[in-house]
Amino acid sequence: MKNDKSNLMRPFGLPQSASTPVVTPLSPSVVYASASPDMLDAQYEGGVAGFTYAREGHPNAHALAKRIDALEGIDGGLVTGSGMAAVSAALLGILKTGDHVVAGDQLYGRSLRLLKEDLPRLGIEVSLCDATRADNVLAALRPNTKIILLEAVSNPTLRVADIAGVAASIKGKGIQLVVDNTFTTPLSLKPAELGADIIVHSVTKLLAGHSDVTLGYVWARKKDISHAINVFCVTTGMTPSPFDCWLAERGLLTFPLRFEKAEQNAVRLADALASHPKIARVLYPMREDHPDVDAAKRLLGKHGCNMVSIELSDQSRGAANRFVEHAREIAFAPTLGDVGTTLSHPASSSHRALSANERMALGISEGFFRISVGIEDVDALIRVFSDAASLT
Ligand SMILES: Cc1ncc(COP(=O)(O)O)c(C=O)c1O
Repeated sequence: MKNDKSNLMRPFGLPQSASTPVVTPLSPSVVYASASPDMLDAQYEGGVAGFTYAREGHPNAHALAKRIDALEGIDGGLVTGSGMAAVSAALLGILKTGDHVVAGDQLYGRSLRLLKEDLPRLGIEVSLCDATRADNVLAALRPNTKIILLEAVSNPTLRVADIAGVAASIKGKGIQLVVDNTFTTPLSLKPAELGADIIVHSVTKLLAGHSDVTLGYVWARKKDISHAINVFCVTTGMTPSPFDCWLAERGLLTFPLRFEKAEQNAVRLADALASHPKIARVLYPMREDHPDVDAAKRLLGKHGCNMVSIELSDQSRGAANRFVEHAREIAFAPTLGDVGTTLSHPASSSHRALSANERMALGISEGFFRISVGIEDVDALIRVFSDAASLT
């Protein structure tokens, strides 16, 4: 009888091997075949481990989540399709109409948009406050407050939130403290140790580190909350691509090396630019002239971050254009955390929706720039930025 197996669209399987791969295999399969309906039942009920459908979970997302868990010193995190998917899931996965959220007023722009535009549309109240003092956050609490959302270091003025103070004061109040640890990373800050209930990351940034994947991560301390966030992600399709997870896992292998080098470069660059005659001010949280230096030292321990902000003495758009044009070797791009240094101009990008007066109230003039410092030769970076500032 003719053997027609070769005409069936199923893989023949990998060759037997007594050895195992040294890197995580890439698994793009959308579906996973089970042995029988009983086995499928057992998988769905958690009796046996196994993947079923990639939107619900796949090996590469799982492998990446485990690595980020290990860096944060926690267990049970979930990888999402972007950092904003993680922020959205942390909020929308547990909030309901009538709830109230308190958040820092200098969060990432899209997080602010979610808080200001989307949550109110769903009947969820939001109060924004200056999170550099725990008192401000506590004063904004209401009986229906369910979530506090903070970033340790704000964008782009690099102000430091009193996360430890807030965490200690809300213990036992049934409020979930959500910390977006994107800027600080687990090398500078482990929010779970301070009492944070939920941690989110834009893995797109420093963790993956090469500007070639868009991913997020979310973890919740309590089982029921973790489950609710997970179900919300599966239902709304916040699933990451296996290839992105695979690339990010590879990127993570060098994350500690990259972060330490970028941070050392940031310290050197900030110090060098601080004495430049055409630079009015330099902001770096660990510098003695930063308004939150004591809080930064307490919160971030021995590491700082790789972000430096500067303000040119000439605060005109013309000077800003000249600065970017003369720093041609640096990517003028509104991102952060890449191995290469990137430069962003908040007035024309992240903060363009604000009026000039609103920007000035935050200290963001036309001459204000944010530098995400990379791992290049720091002397070359100092030279490029110093020369560009001289020509403004
Ligand atoms: C602090 C912070 N949180 C969240 C996000 C959103 O991440 P993603 O771009 O991966 O959606 C960003 C992006 O810049 C960010 O800076």
